[in-house]
Amino acid sequence: MAAKFDKYKKDIDRSTFVRYNKDYLNNNFGIPDIAPFWVADSDFIVMPELVKALKKTAKRGLYPYELKTPAIKQPLIDWYKKRHKVEIKMEGLLFTTSVNTGLAAAIDELTTKGDGIIIQPPVYQAFKSIIKNIGRKVVNNRLSLKNGVYKIDFTDLENKASEKNNTAMLLCSPHNPVGRVWTKKELEKIADICIANDVLMLTDEIHADIIYSNSTFIGMTEVYKEKSDNIIMFGSAGKSFGIPGLVDSFIYSPNPILKKAMQERIMRFHLGKSNAFGNTALKTVYKYGYKWLDTKTAYLAKTVNTIDEYLKKNIPSVTLVKPEGTYQVWLDFNKVTKNDKELKSLLYEKAKIGITLGTEYGIGGKGYARMNIASPRPMIMEALKRVESVLAKK
Ligand SMILES: Cc1ncc(COP(=O)(O)O)c(C=O)c1O
Repeated sequence: MAAKFDKYKKDIDRSTFVRYNKDYLNNNFGIPDIAPFWVADSDFIVMPELVKALKKTAKRGLYPYELKTPAIKQPLIDWYKKRHKVEIKMEGLLFTTSVNTGLAAAIDELTTKGDGIIIQPPVYQAFKSIIKNIGRKVVNNRLSLKNGVYKIDFTDLENKASEKNNTAMLLCSPHNPVGRVWTKKELEKIADICIANDVLMLTDEIHADIIYSNSTFIGMTEVYKEKSDNIIMFGSAGKSFGIPGLVDSFIYSPNPILKKAMQERIMRFHLGKSNAFGNTALKTVYKYGYKWLDTKTAYLAKTVNTIDEYLKKNIPSVTLVKPEGTYQVWLDFNKVTKNDKELKSLLYEKAKIGITLGTEYGIGGKGYARMNIASPRPMIMEALKRVESVLAKK
């Protein structure tokens, strides 16, 4: 079963893929010919039912403006209920092009210029740029690594949340890049702090579907249920099913006022256009994707374990912070490099692997790098072998 994820389709023109475009790689890494394991995109061929459904849509020969009808929304609602025990009410659901579009719109619509937005670095790098680009202030509640597990500093979070100008928190749940799947207890503590201080909760749950066996994803909207409705959730099938290029995402709030504000923003700025292929995908993956996603997650889990064993055996100076979810791995190079310049030279110039330096994710990222493992395992292992051989020559 897992063998299908071992396949890399060679006969494909990838020149328009963000991940593979040579100019893009050259700009990012200083060399165009580098094995790219950076952007959180997938090399896996999507589920066969999806290809079939998209072909059927293509064959229609009609691509008019489309709507998100209840028939499109229902499989998503069912998925969240069955898979995650998360209740999504149809009346609170909105759609936009991408999670980042939704996050930027929410911050711009619901906070004021100069407000502080709390994030937990090291964290998905776009959070910082979104916040800054729309004139808000990044407020860091830094995570810290204790015995191989990233922990939240709740005292610091409480202090930051209690500052009047810090009006929203942008939570990454599960967390990219450190791979934490926050526990119910942790989420409850975050919720209590935000609610007590009237801090709006913006929860980015795009990675909710890739969860490894010892962890359980808990939706923040469920945690909020008995407490408050000052929350908006952001999600997408993009990461789970390898379809970010179909450009679709959803926003959910149980709070009618927040939902209305977001709906008006989406209408004013024309952010809610649906596309035929996105609609087809949404209906198909959330109806038929259960088993496929289980198989993919099992494949990724095995890759994580293989990396861990490989590093322990062959490159013990580089360690893996074992992820509980997501298909990113967070690698610690602190024992082998002193600074970013050295790390860049090791990874990009010598090993020729394009992975993202930890410093991109803000404070706490120095000496780390994030590798995207949604690729055939042999490709991942080949990349690590290159690191091993470069380090052997050091
Ligand atoms: C936490 C997180 N949020 C949002 C995104 C981007 O999602 P979208 O392409 O839907 O904007 C990513 C992509 O890597 C991500 O990791």
